[in-house]
Amino acid sequence: MKTSPKKSIKKFGASNKLPVVKAAKAPSKIVILDFGSQYTQVIARRVRECRVYSEILPHTTKATDIAADGTVRGIILSGGPASVYAPKAPKVDPAIYALGVPILGICYGMQLLTRDLGGVVARSNHREYGKGVLKTTGSAPLFKGLSKTIDVWNSHGDRIEKLPAGFAAIGHTENSPHAVIADARRRIYGMQFHPEVHHTPKGKAILQNFLHGICGAPSDWTMGSFIERICAQIREQVGGGRVILGLSGGVDSSVAAALIHKAIGDQLTCIFVDNGLLRYGERDAVSRLFGRNFKIHLKIVDGTSRFLGKLKGVTDPEKKRKLIGTEFIRVFEQAARDVQNSAKGSKQQFKFLAQGTLYPDVIESVPIAGNPASLIKSHHNVGGLPKDMKFELVEPLRQLFKDEVREVGRELGLPQEVVDRQPFPGPGLAVRIIGAITPERLRIVRDADRIVLDEMKESGWYFKVWQSFAVLLPVQSVGVMGDERTYDYTIALRIVESQDGMTADWVRLPYDLLGRISSRIINEVKGVNRCVLDISSKPPATIEWE
Ligand code: XMP
Repeated sequence: MKTSPKKSIKKFGASNKLPVVKAAKAPSKIVILDFGSQYTQVIARRVRECRVYSEILPHTTKATDIAADGTVRGIILSGGPASVYAPKAPKVDPAIYALGVPILGICYGMQLLTRDLGGVVARSNHREYGKGVLKTTGSAPLFKGLSKTIDVWNSHGDRIEKLPAGFAAIGHTENSPHAVIADARRRIYGMQFHPEVHHTPKGKAILQNFLHGICGAPSDWTMGSFIERICAQIREQVGGGRVILGLSGGVDSSVAAALIHKAIGDQLTCIFVDNGLLRYGERDAVSRLFGRNFKIHLKIVDGTSRFLGKLKGVTDPEKKRKLIGTEFIRVFEQAARDVQNSAKGSKQQFKFLAQGTLYPDVIESVPIAGNPASLIKSHHNVGGLPKDMKFELVEPLRQLFKDEVREVGRELGLPQEVVDRQPFPGPGLAVRIIGAITPERLRIVRDADRIVLDEMKESGWYFKVWQSFAVLLPVQSVGVMGDERTYDYTIALRIVESQDGMTADWVRLPYDLLGRISSRIINEVKGVNRCVLDISSKPPATIEWE
């Protein structure tokens, strides 16, 4: 299995808590208690799309902790793979039912609250998976503005046999007489189907009714207010100290840099390591945008010869990744020491290290048997430094999902080229050259990649796909150019669509665009006489070739 070299690196001094916000009012929040559903993060994102801040907490969180900062307006109990009557079924602190804030149980969450409040749940003879039709009764606020018949998406094997005292069924499906239940007085609701998934087309409207209508949560989670709050928080955390940030040119580190710079200006220094494996013009673009345009202190380290020296003759993909990962840490560490030393004697020391860590990387979860979400890998954005370099972490994006990071980037004035940039792997072009890396092969893949990106941008396709790039295959074949026989390399085009990089499919690009890319690569890139198209999906293939 391929692993990111960054993944094995130990998190350096990370704390799970952000300092308390003083300067700007914290937004109200919805707490989502996680029972291991693969959709828990989707619930959190849907809530945030309604402009209400949401936080995922382990289902074991104490009610007093949930209520501690006074901002919680409602609680959602997620779905999950367990059965409520299984011996080790995950539970909640029963005190949550007495907090007086509205509660919505989804699927497992509904079954759990039913059982906790005195109802009966049993295995259903008719499991419901996939599409279903919900018929609602009465005029419940949950269904305000919706028709009486709603398409929903189910995934459950258990069902409610007896309602707890105070509850009434307000919706049913063919096989579930109690598909939606409500105790309107206590504002506790349960639904058997999943409102968070796109297959429940009116799901967001139902969630909105819960958030705004029932919980009374205002739409106060906006990126403008986030920026204001987080800048105050950064200033409070670093005081007069100075911050180092490893800038890769990717979305996360770029937005983190712009945000921290907005908060503390010249107290921030960014380090950009050129490992010699970057795309065409990347180093200049970073230097132009951050150095000249944003006027951020930027130290560019040219590590080309170090990296290429280490990679000489290495063909094993895993070895390449490990070497690059380790070398990156060494080079960055040296640059950080240089920056620190340059500030010796000055009152402002570099005490802080900033990272573009995102929310999905910090969500704490309690392992639950059968939880498919726990199998999903993520590429951590965490750098590693030796313990003797005592830095405190600054992680301004810890609360955000990727699409929110892009929104913050836009608000801060970063160009679309950066904000909506396609992902680029940490080991760079090294994993797009199959076999040994040489300066010649790097030139070929870099030139071919430039042409792919040029044409994708020119045709308007660049922002519509997840990734589009060239791979250099170590396959040479016979061709003819003019009157001369050639024996040159092959370039594979990899253009994929994906939601999150976990699964992907190849993009059906127009033939004339493919033709243009191919003919430009063969004509303009010396050493290539053949271009092929990769039409594999992930799984079973992966997006990158190594
Ligand atoms: P694969 O090839 O595993 O890639 O299907 C999934 C997504 O992750 C990116 N990728 C990486 N990103 N460090 C990174 O930061 C890495 O080592 C790495 N390997 C793959 C890849 O470009 C795709 O978007």
